[in-house]
Amino acid sequence: MRNISLILKQFSRSVLLIAGLAVWGFSARAQGDAAKGEALFKAKCTACHKIESRMTGPALGPTITSETDDKWLTKWIQNNQALITAKDPKAVKIYNEYNQAAMTVFTELSDGDVANIIAYVRADWKTMQAAPKGDPSKTGGATADSGPSNLVIFGLLGVIVIAFIIILVLNRVIATLERLLLNRKGLLPEVAEEDTTKAAAERAATFKKLLKNKKLVFFFLLSFTIAGASWQWTTLWNTNVHTGYQPVQPIKYSHQLHAGTMKIDCQYCHGGAYKSKNATIPSLNVCMNCHKVVKTESPEIHKIYDALGYDPQTQKYDTTKARPIQWIRVHNLPDLAYFNHSQHVKVGGIKCQTCHGPIETMQEVKQYSPLTMKWCIQCHKRTEVNYKGNAYYDNMIQVHDRIKRGEKVTAAALGGIECGKCHY
Ligand code: HEC
Ligand code: HEC
Ligand code: HEC
Ligand code: HEC
Ligand code: HEC
Ligand code: HEC
Repeated sequence: MRNISLILKQFSRSVLLIAGLAVWGFSARAQGDAAKGEALFKAKCTACHKIESRMTGPALGPTITSETDDKWLTKWIQNNQALITAKDPKAVKIYNEYNQAAMTVFTELSDGDVANIIAYVRADWKTMQAAPKGDPSKTGGATADSGPSNLVIFGLLGVIVIAFIIILVLNRVIATLERLLLNRKGLLPEVAEEDTTKAAAERAATFKKLLKNKKLVFFFLLSFTIAGASWQWTTLWNTNVHTGYQPVQPIKYSHQLHAGTMKIDCQYCHGGAYKSKNATIPSLNVCMNCHKVVKTESPEIHKIYDALGYDPQTQKYDTTKARPIQWIRVHNLPDLAYFNHSQHVKVGGIKCQTCHGPIETMQEVKQYSPLTMKWCIQCHKRTEVNYKGNAYYDNMIQVHDRIKRGEKVTAAALGGIECGKCHY
């Protein structure tokens, strides 16, 4: 008995630990009151923002959910102008991305108010993503990031519940065993139905043996702990991974039609991918090469005309009426990671589809690869570089030879005057 109660004690300690972890996981993110946040959001933010799609400002569901720095977020929401004036790099970037459209300053909102709004937006976005995929405008980035908090919490709660059930069962077993033992000691000599008692005693003995078997008990405890931990591990690793993200774009432009059926070369529109860091999204003038005459009656094509200030009747551009189409960015690495397209496409000879998937079959572009550091590293470990007949490596070999001969080597010789080495 001593053994078992000792184990039980240790066991309840680990349960307490897990419970503590769960509470911690919970408090790490969801500290606001979503109900209060909803009212504030509707009153203050809906003029410019929607949760699931872009309006004047960005779609707040995905942006607020993926933002990990809540302090920054609070500062932004309370006074974005202060951040921009202080040249906060993130703030300036968003501001420029949205063509310097000004967001209202909300100095009247307390930290608590903002936490409530954030909680509401995250909760609402999560339910939207959990909803069935039927209405594309509602689900936005259907499989996009859903944050770890819920899964982790449910996982941990599950582990705790199972652990308590086990404790209960073990307690019952101990009680029965104790009763049996007493029975045996006190009653054995005078018992009539010897057979049944014997059988029961045998069964009890096996039971006892099993429970006494510390290894077995330990094995079960260990399995539960490992299962719980690995679950948490994977969910945490998948935070901020947006594989499958597929926003609805402002114009129903289809890669399936243009790059697939019509076989327009990627280079025609994304020439940057071959010569610079950025692949670049084509300007609408590229579309006009064809759409000045193709499908001129289509309302979708009229969105191109409106954006350029083009009047199909007079065939004249009025630049004062022009306002750029705001394509929603699908792939987006954080600023801390440097990725260069030409290095991969031109030097490495990697096809666009290796990273972006079968774009030519997609009506709407979706994120195909996870874009995690692990993804980059794994490919780097596995891909063999083809340096034969490759100008980039010919240059490297030349530099290498010069170094061997002890000659002068400048930074320029190492590529230090290529625009992409210094410029984004
Ligand atoms: C007058 C329009 C307007 C209102 C009202 C408004 N916003 Fe914004 N918001 C914008 C614009 C425009 C941007 C894009 C950045 C820029 O141009 O300043 C933006 C950006 C943001 C961002 C940054 C998103 C990112 O990419 O990280 C957050 C967060 C945000 N708004 C939250 C809110 C919240 C919360 C409210 C309500 C309390 C609100 N906004 C009210 C226009 C508005
Ligand atoms: C006729 C012009 C055109 C051609 C040809 C074209 N694209 Fe695009 N591409 C666009 C436009 C416009 C967008 C932005 C709207 C969107 O995301 O659908 C875009 C978006 C993308 C994106 C997502 C960008 C983001 O926001 O992260 C990828 C990836 C992409 N294209 C890859 C390709 C590949 C690969 C090919 C060749 C198989 C190709 N494109 C051919 C016009 C084109
Ligand atoms: C090389 C010529 C060419 C270029 C460049 C081109 N398109 Fe198209 N596009 C077409 C043709 C042809 C069709 C019509 C196919 C058909 O008949 O259904 C079409 C159809 C469309 C449609 C569907 C219209 C509808 O109502 O069915 C949209 C939207 C569209 N293009 C957007 C764009 C955008 C945006 C760009 C620039 C990024 C672009 N296209 C560039 C040739 C082109
Ligand atoms: C080695 C993987 C890889 C290859 C190959 C690749 N891309 Fe990309 N692409 C990326 C990553 C990563 C991003 C996100 C970049 C960022 O956010 O800075 C991206 C972003 C884009 C974008 C969004 C705009 C931009 O420049 O950030 C477009 C458009 C695009 N790629 C098109 C292409 C085309 C077209 C090709 C083929 C010529 C191609 N890509 C080849 C990984 C790749
Ligand atoms: C599909 C495989 C693949 C993926 C995915 C990939 N890379 Fe690469 N990368 C390569 C190859 C191949 C090279 C070597 C190209 C060359 O110079 O010959 C390379 C080269 C580079 C280099 C230059 C290294 C040097 O010193 O010359 C950088 C930086 C880089 N990759 C960053 C990234 C980042 C960041 C990501 C993830 C966002 C990424 N790569 C994803 C295949 C990949
Ligand atoms: C060794 C690093 C380096 C290289 C290589 C480089 N630049 Fe620059 N570039 C800079 C710096 C630093 C600035 C900002 C200081 C300035 O304006 O002189 C700059 C500024 C610029 C500007 C002015 C931007 C502005 O808004 O004022 C342009 C345009 C530019 N570079 C284009 C290029 C082009 C094109 C190439 C390739 C032929 C290139 N640069 C290569 C470092 C570099």
